[in-house]
Amino acid sequence: MSRYSRITGTGSYLPPRRITNADLAVELAARGVETSDDWIVERTGIRARHFADSGVTSSDLGLQAARQALDAAGVAAGDIDLIIVATSTPDMIFPSAACILQNKLGIAGCAAFDVQAVCSGFVYALTIADSLIKTSTATRALVIGAEVFSRILDFSDRTTCVLFGDGAGAVVLEASETPGILASDLHADGRHVGILCVPGTVSGGKVLGDPLLKMDGKAVFKLAVGVLEETARATLAKAGRTAGDIDWLIPHQANIRIMQGTAKKLKLPLDKLVVTVDEHGNTSAASIPLALDAAVRSGKIKRGDTLMLEGVGGGFTWGAVLLDF
Ligand code: ACO
Repeated sequence: MSRYSRITGTGSYLPPRRITNADLAVELAARGVETSDDWIVERTGIRARHFADSGVTSSDLGLQAARQALDAAGVAAGDIDLIIVATSTPDMIFPSAACILQNKLGIAGCAAFDVQAVCSGFVYALTIADSLIKTSTATRALVIGAEVFSRILDFSDRTTCVLFGDGAGAVVLEASETPGILASDLHADGRHVGILCVPGTVSGGKVLGDPLLKMDGKAVFKLAVGVLEETARATLAKAGRTAGDIDWLIPHQANIRIMQGTAKKLKLPLDKLVVTVDEHGNTSAASIPLALDAAVRSGKIKRGDTLMLEGVGGGFTWGAVLLDF
């Protein structure tokens, strides 16, 4: 009998502090940085984002999302045998946010580690969990995307600080006799390290280099539209399906223009696109599971629907997962 993996529950969490574009414009003006609601909405589709209060970490946000996903799946934390957290803003350099979150869940013993693939982190993490379940290394996994990107933003750089937000999303992925996950496709091209990075690090007890996010938005935009179409088509081909089989497209929520461009290239009507970037901003590895959970809880996504999840981000990394929900 074949062994597959299937999502049995979803969850998400946004920190309560909601910052509209107008709020942000006022904060930035006080620093002499000019922006406007009109510019941000027109170029990105973002209307608001959530910022975590100081002291709140990725594992704190991930914990809330994980608890919701466990409830939705009807699974006890003690039955989880694998935790993967996709994050680029972990609580510490080490141990991983996954180990910290495991302890906060009140469990011990199961495998736990972080995946660092920036905004593609969740599709990377989901693919790894699927593989570990298929090979019987794990049976019941928590896969989480959690970020506090507000901590690495340069609020004097209006070309980046208006784009990102904080949040977490989670799924419980369980072994199943039927799919579940149908196919995955993962890629990276390290030649593009410099177009999206946080170049600093900690060394010799000091921050070395610049610890704030840098992005060449135009270069990222150009690459993103091309690779998102390619990886969607490659994933469909591996699964023996066509774009017409997709009920819901859930791309990384970075910019509404990139998302709509991808849907159009796949000849999908825009009402099949799940959009949360307007309310969440770009939450990096958290954006896909946050969007997935929002669409499940609003009743848009139903059991049996075919979903295409697609990530793209720093590295440069990209990839997709096709699944029957
Ligand atoms: N408010 C007002 N004006 C602004 C702002 C702002 N926040 N930011 C830039 N501008 C100005 C610029 O200074 C420029 O002015 P100028 O013409 O006088 O020089 C003008 O607006 C146009 O700027 P562009 O950079 O050309 O704007 P563009 O249309 O390229 O949009 C954006 C910028 C939104 C960043 C876009 O390039 C983009 O979305 N890129 C992709 C980002 C992305 O998808 N990232 C995903 C991965 S994220 C991850 O992995 C962590």
